[in-house]
Amino acid sequence: MSLVITEVLSAPRQLWRRFAIWLHARMPKGLYARALLIVILPVVLLQSAVAYVFMERHWEVVTYRLSAAVARQVATVVDVYQTFPDDPAHSQLRRIAALDLDMEVSILPKGPLPAPVTKQSLFSLLDKALTGELSRKILQPYWVNTSFTGSLIEIRVALEEATLRILVARTQAYASNSYIFFMWMAIASIIILAVATSFLRNQIRPILRLALAAEEFGKGRDVQFSPRGAREVRRAGAAFLEMKRRVERAIEQRTTMLNGVSHDLRTIITRFKLSLALMADSNEAAEMRRDVDEMERMVEAYLAFARGDGGEVSERTDVSAVLEELKADTERRGIPVSMKIEGEPVIVARPAALKRLLANLVGNAQRYGKTLEFTILNDGESMVVHIDDDGPGIPVERREDAFRPFYRLDEARNQDDGNSGLGLAIARDIARSHGGDIELDRSPLGGLRATVSLPL
Ligand SMILES: Nc1ncnc2c1ncn2[C@@H]1O[C@H](COP(=O)(O)OP(=O)(O)OP(=O)(O)O)[C@@H](O)[C@H]1O
Ligand SMILES: [Mg+2]
Repeated sequence: MSLVITEVLSAPRQLWRRFAIWLHARMPKGLYARALLIVILPVVLLQSAVAYVFMERHWEVVTYRLSAAVARQVATVVDVYQTFPDDPAHSQLRRIAALDLDMEVSILPKGPLPAPVTKQSLFSLLDKALTGELSRKILQPYWVNTSFTGSLIEIRVALEEATLRILVARTQAYASNSYIFFMWMAIASIIILAVATSFLRNQIRPILRLALAAEEFGKGRDVQFSPRGAREVRRAGAAFLEMKRRVERAIEQRTTMLNGVSHDLRTIITRFKLSLALMADSNEAAEMRRDVDEMERMVEAYLAFARGDGGEVSERTDVSAVLEELKADTERRGIPVSMKIEGEPVIVARPAALKRLLANLVGNAQRYGKTLEFTILNDGESMVVHIDDDGPGIPVERREDAFRPFYRLDEARNQDDGNSGLGLAIARDIARSHGGDIELDRSPLGGLRATVSLPL
């Protein structure tokens, strides 16, 4: 039973879901545009509704009432004409009409009425109203022209002995100043829009500043930020600052601790070395010396990994200069390197960390490749650096593993050199602390392509 009910319910719900998705896709994505929409939409809807009601009801009713008044006046003129037939030249009638009714009356000789005027769309409401009201008040045949020159209406009534021609101002029968209402509505809308725009811009600026500060901090850059704006935004800003402070404190603590550890370990290793130096030369002593050397190297590597790059400050760094240096070093080892640069090769980053990152990747490529290629691409949004080699590469399923600390792909491949298996882990750590990442891929040269992408 309950299954049936959910089946029934799910149809409109699905429809609603589809509508929501459709609407979501069409809605503006920015907060500014959305907020503006929330302000503007009700105003436009309200004004449209008011305008519709006004047009439909008020304007029409007023025009009908005015037309009815004009029709009554015309009926009065006709009545006076018929009641006082002896009035010489009907001067009294013309006087009353002109003074009291604001109408100009003239008497034309008897004749047929002109053909009906083809109606203009602008005054179709007036035509309808006036002919309707005249039909009710006047029994004689009549003729109306609502678009007579000079904003006048011409009405002719055919009587037995003559035709009455009456001219009356169009404004008497027609609520013609309604456009003022629309003009005011348009002006009000523009004022609301202007106020809302400037007000919203001021409200949204602090949010943008907070987003920017968080982004910069995520890229490991120094940020100057103080919370501003509405209370909620200020609260978010304060929370961000508190979080930033805590992260910085944690980094500082780690650095202090590791400095202590490294100092203690180095002291012991130095003591070892001293004792070994004092020992007589023997096979065992030589072996121990090698072991102590390797231990020293590894301890340095672990500590460098754990220490990260706390304390270094971001600055504009020329990536091409770093790669030129690494290129020269590679070529000294007899490995040819080609280099391609597209766009400005400059990025804001911690220089020593960036150099370590690239040196780790190039070091790997040197170890496995016979020719290398370095590429720098700057598309204005991010910087991408490819380090390509023509070595054996890394199979797809093991590329992620290669980033794990202490991971060596193939123990046999690099037994001889004291590699720690930390190079890629450190490199990725540095890339991520700048808001970027490293990917491994197949190189066009046949070996491995390490791609560093960093946001600008
Ligand atoms: N260009 C490359 N071609 C083929 N294999 C690679 C390449 N770069 C890295 N690898 C493989 O990935 C593993 C991990 O590399 P990573 O740089 O992390 O460590 P490592 O080079 O062995 O040691 P370290 O860099 O700390 O001296 C390497 O041991 C190697 O097997
Ligand atoms: Mg390495």
